[in-house]
Formats: sequence, C-alpha cells, structure tokens
Amino acid sequence: MKGVFITLEGIEGSGKTTQVQFLKSRLENLKYRVLATREPGGSRIAEIIRKILLDDNNREISPMTELLLYEAARAQHVDEVIRPALESGAVVISDRFVDSTTAYQGAGRSIDIETVQVLHRIATRDVWPDMTIVLDVPVKEGLTRIGKCGKPDRIEQEPESFHEKVRKSFIELSQKEPNRVKIVDGCKSPPVIAEDIFNLIKPLLSPANLSGE
Ligand code: TMP
Repeated sequence: MKGVFITLEGIEGSGKTTQVQFLKSRLENLKYRVLATREPGGSRIAEIIRKILLDDNNREISPMTELLLYEAARAQHVDEVIRPALESGAVVISDRFVDSTTAYQGAGRSIDIETVQVLHRIATRDVWPDMTIVLDVPVKEGLTRIGKCGKPDRIEQEPESFHEKVRKSFIELSQKEPNRVKIVDGCKSPPVIAEDIFNLIKPLLSPANLSGE
C-alpha cells in the first residue's frame, strides 16, 4: 500500500491525543495528505461501539465481550476508513490500535495472547502499523492528568494495578518489536515530545504521500 500507517499508544493521560493533533498539523503544513483517527471509533458504527465500551453503566461487560467489541469496532474502522486511506497514499495516524488491545485486554484482563492475536488478524486483515509510538508516563502521573479532565470512563476507573499491567505490556511490546514499536518519554514538554515523534516517523514519508496541491 502507498500510504503510511502510524499509531500512537500509551496509558490513560499519556498525552497521545494532543500529539496526534500536533503531528497531523505538522504533516499538513508540509503538504502531506493526513487522516487522523482514533480507536475505539473512527467511523459511525465504531463510534457507537465506543459508547457501549466506555459507558460507566456497562460494568457487567465480560472480558471476552469487551475484547470482541474492541475488535468489532476495529474491523469496521479498518474496512471503512483506514484501508481505503492507505490505498490512496495518505498518512494515517490513529490514536490507539491493536497494541491497546494487547495491553488492556491481553495483559490488563489476562486474556491469553494467542486469542488476542487471532482476533487482531481477523479484524485487521493485514492492515498493520508501519510505526507505533508509545508515550510512556508513570501510572500515577497519567491518572493525575486525567483526574483533572472530568468524570473518568469505565476503563479509566480501573485500579492503579490494572494500569501498571497495561504500561508494562506496552514496554514489553517495544522490546519484542523494536523496529516497529518505539518508546517516547511522555514526561517531556509537549513540543519536545512532538519533535521526538516527528524524527522517528520522518524516514517513513515519501513523495507518494504528498497531497499534490
Ligand atoms: P482513549 O481514552 O484513548 O480514547 O481510549 C478509550 C479507552 O479504551 C481507553 O481506556 C483504552 C481503552 N481501550 C482498550 O481497552 N482496548 C482497545 O483495544 C482500545 C483501542 C482502547
């Protein structure tokens, strides 16, 4: 595929969402064609599934249902939004993707990794990130940051020990797949983090990704 697929990952309050916007603006200023999206969500149906997943009233969702819903949202998002954008040569930046499922449902909910990986393959059908940036912050720091932003959702309300497992899983992913998964220190100032991210993704860009305006 002509496009470039970049995903940003991290625990709650790691600052990914801000960095997705920074990266999108920077690339657009350089005349790249950019699609910024998010998971769960990014398409009408996937956003409906997102509401079910994050609704605080849905506490009885079982770990397997949760896993299947994240992957169902992903299947729709990939088919409807991500794959067509990559085929057309865009730079796609997703705020979370498969590694969040590995970290939250695999490590956090203790679902075996083979099951998680089989579902990744079914949902993505070979659409896989070219590079994944993990913004790493200590759990206490991340949870303090989100505490300042209103009512936490169903997953954010999990205990600190859950978020520690998620953080550890992201770090392990970067050790298992060092070429794809890069750790960036999320405690630096946002402009410095933006520079670190840009320097990592720069080698992936090509003239095929320019908007042609
Ligand atoms: P957000 O807060 O980054 O918008 O993500 C929504 C929540 O969903 C966040 O708590 C992480 C969680 N999540 C999973 O548990 N598994 C997944 O596969 C994804 C994409 C997100």
